Amino acid sequence: MDKLESDTDSKGFKRLRNEVSKRIGVDYENYSKSHLRRRFHARMRVVETPKFTDYLNYLKRNDEEIEKLRKLLTVNVTKFKRDEDVWEIIEDEVIPQIIDKKNDEIFKKIKVWSAGCATGEEPYSLAISFLNNQLPENISIQIYGTDLDNQALDFARNGVYPDKSVKNLSKMEKKEFFIQKNKGWILKDKIKDLVKFEKKDIFKTEFKRKFDLILCRNLMIYFNNDSKADLMKRLVESLNKGGFLIIGMAENLRAPAKDDVESYDLKKRIFVKP
Ligand SMILES: C[S@@+](CC[C@H](N)C(=O)[O-])C[C@H]1O[C@@H](n2cnc3c(N)ncnc32)[C@H](O)[C@@H]1O
Repeated sequence: MDKLESDTDSKGFKRLRNEVSKRIGVDYENYSKSHLRRRFHARMRVVETPKFTDYLNYLKRNDEEIEKLRKLLTVNVTKFKRDEDVWEIIEDEVIPQIIDKKNDEIFKKIKVWSAGCATGEEPYSLAISFLNNQLPENISIQIYGTDLDNQALDFARNGVYPDKSVKNLSKMEKKEFFIQKNKGWILKDKIKDLVKFEKKDIFKTEFKRKFDLILCRNLMIYFNNDSKADLMKRLVESLNKGGFLIIGMAENLRAPAKDDVESYDLKKRIFVKP
């Protein structure tokens, strides 16, 4: 096969991106061109169409191709307490501070958002960490998990996980929060009840406000720089004073959001809104 076409400024690339956006219902203009190119190339190699335009024609002629591409474009990899050292700080420092602060407030509801939650391990880990902190009875908590991928959200709502997902949890946590059955780990209702899942495309929704903690991890790496900056700004605006924003280890906070928060732990990408 000829060398794969790689110019992401070409008409062929843009036409392909537009068609894929239209068919999948996601605006891929917000995503980084190199991410899209890598994923397009993976399919172009398989179906042996070295030019973007040829792949576009192939996509139009073969109904099943769009689903194969959609699966490649959607990266759902996650696990409970992904990046254990970050979770140590979330559980031992961030959550106790949020609880302490709520104790002094009249409205004792903690609002948490896991944006781009994939199959649910992240919001459920938050629920586990809150319960590990012995949440006072007069404080309630609502954890939102949002993602644009319906299949991932269905999996999350079901709440049954394979061994590899729970690897970072302690024996005690597994015993306390799961029932083990046929090599699967079934989440108990006391965790499931704390998390509400909603399908949301982060670029198409108005954000709720007054969050005490937002995790938006390993999602922005797929976006272009302008979209990242805009999204980070909106995330910070959605935080309460004293609220925390935690992004992925491979991500960096950008202006203008950067100027509206303080680093709580820069290495672990934990920020707080003063
Ligand atoms: C790699 S997972 C991250 C899961 C989890 N936050 C973690 O760090 O382990 C990225 C998730 O972002 C979701 N995603 C991608 N684009 C999105 C968008 N525009 N709106 C909402 N979710 C999106 C994908 O569906 C995928 O489930």
